[in-house]
Amino acid sequence: MLRLTVNGVPTTVEIGWGGESLLHVLRERMGLPGSKNACEQGECGSCTVLLDSLPVCSCLVAAGQAHGREVVTVEGLSAGDDRGFVGRAFLAAGAVQCGFCTPGFVVAVHELLSRSDEPSELEVREALAGNLCRCTGYEKIIDAVHRAAGQLRERR
Ligand code: FES
Ligand code: FES
Repeated sequence: MLRLTVNGVPTTVEIGWGGESLLHVLRERMGLPGSKNACEQGECGSCTVLLDSLPVCSCLVAAGQAHGREVVTVEGLSAGDDRGFVGRAFLAAGAVQCGFCTPGFVVAVHELLSRSDEPSELEVREALAGNLCRCTGYEKIIDAVHRAAGQLRERR
């Protein structure tokens, strides 16, 4: 039995074995399909979640490693009146094409903006270095991050 907090809710989940991935637990056992499974080997970042506030590839985290810890998924970052602002900035900037990479980017951007509401281009590129997009060419994604950061500053 796995005990963890997901998107602020203490949760107990029956798992097959401690070595199944956190991504599998979230998607297949908890009905949270926002984190995407693309490579399942830590290469693409589409499965990014926050584990105790740090971004991780959930495909590489064994469920047992998440026991007693706090997980935030893209669903948790998109709920509520003002929390979907990163995703909206992606749409407004034209940074979404197929959209498969977008949830992972949204999680990574939230983590970056939790550290800085005016990140430099280098900081943005570093924060997103683990996330791959095969559609957009990244420039619009970087525009989206600056757009989201601007909205965050306006709200403060
Ligand atoms: S699915 Fe986890 S890094 Fe690609
Ligand atoms: S929008 Fe298609 S992979 Fe990024």
